[in-house]
Amino acid sequence: MGEAQRTWGGRFEGSMDDLTRDYTAGVDRDLYEQDIAGSVAHVRMLGAKGIIPESEADSIVAGLGLVLEQFRAGQVEWRPDLEDIHTHVEVLLGEQIGSAAGRLHTARSRNDQVALLNRMLVRDQCELASAGAEAFIEILCDLALTYEAAPMPGYTHLQRAQPITLGHHLLAYGEMLLRDRARFHDCRERANVLPLGSGALSGSPYPLDREMVARELGFQGVSRNSLDAVADRDFAIEFLSCCAITQTHLSRLAEEIVLWSSAEFGFVRLPDAFATGSSMMPQKKNADVAELARGRTGRVLGELMNLLTNLKGQPLAYNRDLQEDKAAILNAAAVVIPSLRIFAAMVPALQFNLEHMRVAASGGFALATDVADYLVRKGMAFREAHAVTGGLVREAEECGCELNELPFEAYAKASALFETDVLEIDVDAALAARDVVGGTAPTRVREAADILRKRLKN
Ligand code: ARG
Repeated sequence: MGEAQRTWGGRFEGSMDDLTRDYTAGVDRDLYEQDIAGSVAHVRMLGAKGIIPESEADSIVAGLGLVLEQFRAGQVEWRPDLEDIHTHVEVLLGEQIGSAAGRLHTARSRNDQVALLNRMLVRDQCELASAGAEAFIEILCDLALTYEAAPMPGYTHLQRAQPITLGHHLLAYGEMLLRDRARFHDCRERANVLPLGSGALSGSPYPLDREMVARELGFQGVSRNSLDAVADRDFAIEFLSCCAITQTHLSRLAEEIVLWSSAEFGFVRLPDAFATGSSMMPQKKNADVAELARGRTGRVLGELMNLLTNLKGQPLAYNRDLQEDKAAILNAAAVVIPSLRIFAAMVPALQFNLEHMRVAASGGFALATDVADYLVRKGMAFREAHAVTGGLVREAEECGCELNELPFEAYAKASALFETDVLEIDVDAALAARDVVGGTAPTRVREAADILRKRLKN
């Protein structure tokens, strides 16, 4: 068999080498839902426009329903000689309804058919990724309220810089993910244009109603240039860049979870459900989920580079290189979507050592900026205040204590503007002082979490 059923067999005499068959195989076997939905819409339109007899359109639609059931029930045996999902569906349809199946491909090329499939795939994956981001943002908002006033050290250069709240830190990721979600949404919007009706590359000689197909498949419009419609994959590249950015954000959080769960930081105990042990060292509890999320990021970034490179040398219009887009889309989605899901489960299960984080938040002279700001409030220029406080830090360092453990005399000697209330500067005062939109003051964190939740609803 085989050769006779190839949809393009007519002009071929020799048979395909098995090596060629395997080398050219795609990864679209699971995309039957989208492919069949596209065919149903196409054939309904062909019937409605009288391009094929209405009765045959009906029988094709019914037959496609049966083929869909076969796929869903796992009854389809994949045949590499049939090349791709499009051919499988057509051949299976023939087995169901006989010769009428031959009318399905009227006014259609696999080139516009696959462009359609890919756009539907990207739409679906954008929805899944958006939903994943949304669920995680909700969790982050909940946690931000729980930890709105829980101090931790904020870092720059991985050196303790100023105290922040854990809630504020977690909400930073909430903001990143909200933008990620918006990017997936925008990507879906731009992908949501119907390419079908472009034919192989030049359009179609049949009186198609493309708007009807677009409506039926939920596309918000139809493509305006047939070459562009079959040859470009910018929507896929855009999807991959959305994935790349999202996974990069998750990777940074992953890195923090790895650090925080180390003995050196001791901020977090990993819940057993999201950690693994060592086969050799009995004491170990490793942040493998976080490490794998970080470790898989390269794959996502790689797929973005893959598709950009794939496209850059291709003359218009369709070239088989384009078949590579599906693997790229599926591979990236297969990292990002499960990563979002597992983070939404793991992060709320982290057991934070809040007491230890509070102590760390005030250590390492993290309150030095607040001492300088104290002087500024008393009228000193910030530069001078910076220098005066720097001197006090040096003194504290020499006597091995924190700034607020220095005797008041040290302050008085450094500047006449100091009064004894300078010794009241502590972590909570420093946090409460950051009372600006976007700041880490607990009231602002609460407000930011509420607003983020509202923005999520829009
Ligand atoms: N499997 C192909 C792809 O994914 C379908 C289109 C094939 N078209 C062609 N002219 N060879 O791109």
